[in-house]
Amino acid sequence: MNEKILVLDFGGQYDQLIARRVREQQVYAEIESYDHITPQQIAQAGYKGIIFTGGPNSVYDPASPHYDPAVLSLGIPILGICYGHQLLAYMAGGRIDSAESSSEYGKTQLYVENSPLFRDVDAQSVCWMSHRDYVSQVPEGFTVTGHTDHCPCAAMADEDRKLYGVQFHPEVTHTQFGTQIIRNFLYQVCGCTGDWTMDDFIQRSVEHYRRELAGKRVLLALSGGVDSSVVAALLSQAIGQSLTCVFVDHGLLRKDEGDFVERTFSGMYGMEFIRVNAQDLFLERLAGVTEPEAKRKIIGELFIRVFEAEAGKLGKIHALAQGTIYPDVVESGKGGSATIKSHHNVGGLPQTMGFDQLVEPLRDLFKDEVRAVGLKLGLPRELVYRQPFPGPGLAVRVVGQITKEKLDMLREADAIFREEVDRCPEEERPSQYFAVITDLRSVGVKGDERTYGYTVALRAVTTDDFMTAEWTRLPYEAIDRASRRITNAIGPITRVVYDVTAKPPATVEWE
Ligand code: XMP
Repeated sequence: MNEKILVLDFGGQYDQLIARRVREQQVYAEIESYDHITPQQIAQAGYKGIIFTGGPNSVYDPASPHYDPAVLSLGIPILGICYGHQLLAYMAGGRIDSAESSSEYGKTQLYVENSPLFRDVDAQSVCWMSHRDYVSQVPEGFTVTGHTDHCPCAAMADEDRKLYGVQFHPEVTHTQFGTQIIRNFLYQVCGCTGDWTMDDFIQRSVEHYRRELAGKRVLLALSGGVDSSVVAALLSQAIGQSLTCVFVDHGLLRKDEGDFVERTFSGMYGMEFIRVNAQDLFLERLAGVTEPEAKRKIIGELFIRVFEAEAGKLGKIHALAQGTIYPDVVESGKGGSATIKSHHNVGGLPQTMGFDQLVEPLRDLFKDEVRAVGLKLGLPRELVYRQPFPGPGLAVRVVGQITKEKLDMLREADAIFREEVDRCPEEERPSQYFAVITDLRSVGVKGDERTYGYTVALRAVTTDDFMTAEWTRLPYEAIDRASRRITNAIGPITRVVYDVTAKPPATVEWE
């Protein structure tokens, strides 16, 4: 078993970021909400250390999250961050105060003392602060190990009990020595050795599934997206011929995508790869449908039906593999919100299909770790770093009725636009970029002839999480080249527009 750190979540927005920062230092971290785990369970789970996250609250607010102080006596090192720092002080008998004059937001000068937590950290540096309350009196046994001009206790430590708190956020990149501080906690304080590497993960997963799935047949719905592709690569190494991947080509894929997926996966480690050509079926069922939610529902249902039919032909299948990743697991534990659109992850199948077992090899991994595993397993870079593609595919990028003619035009226009954007340096590329064919016809002139053609919209967004997004300020030359090429190459397209709307108020996709 790997060494592991518990990120005890008190409701801040930083829990996943903290866990990722820990894992970047080669130590496995998992997130638990404070009300889902008791100190006894923590002791039994064998954690090397605990990090209390920030939270939006004040410790004296009765509604704010509190925790059983028994956790302080487990002998497991603790690092409290922001609210976690105040909570630690409060639990150990210190005092918290609130004063407008001590509140700090943003980059702040930090002064630190000698402490295992601050090894190789300059005595003066910049940290990122976001607080109003502050620790005004440290608990017995603690000393102040850092301050700022406005915050008398920006860091505290009880070195005997290995309890540490920092008012600032070491997990954000604005904190100059943040990474070093997290590393110090893991290696100097918790005594970790750093056994979390992707090579190791692959080796252990392959061995595990080889044992666990011996003699069983496994089915994977392969979409060609990053997650299901990495599952395919990993399981094909573990069980080879016992793995069958079903790739449903619904005719709503980007240019050459179906062939690319087939080329990449057919024959990989002897696994069986089935490409189901269901283009006509999907187009027939979508004919005349214009309402976005109706399109999504039809595609989701049809996908399951096609997949079931294919599975039915294969005889007894014991397990279904899925590309669930860690943020899916963490986020599904949190409160729901309004449905803006029904996201059909085409990999997501009902659990009622009669499989004995569900196999989710990437359940513990963040997206960047999934990508690293994919590369190590030899998947092509263009697949591993591909932008997200919605399950309903190009159907939500054809506004109005979906026809083969519109789809073909869109595929060409989209390929040209992506090619032009890909000429920009990798670090300047948007998070997602694609073309949309609108339902708008407009008058134009080509040669000396009047035209009445289609309008294509180009969309490029920059975002970390896709929950909010900025429209990307692409170089005018890139937009210009794309526009000229599209109108030259695709006769019926006579107008190209660039979408300059953020999310919100728009969404990334048009439907
Ligand atoms: P929206 O349009 O909701 O998109 O702002 C946010 C991100 O999600 C992708 N998207 C989907 N992904 N199934 C998916 O797997 C879907 O039905 C779906 N709809 C949108 C979209 O491409 C963007 O990355």
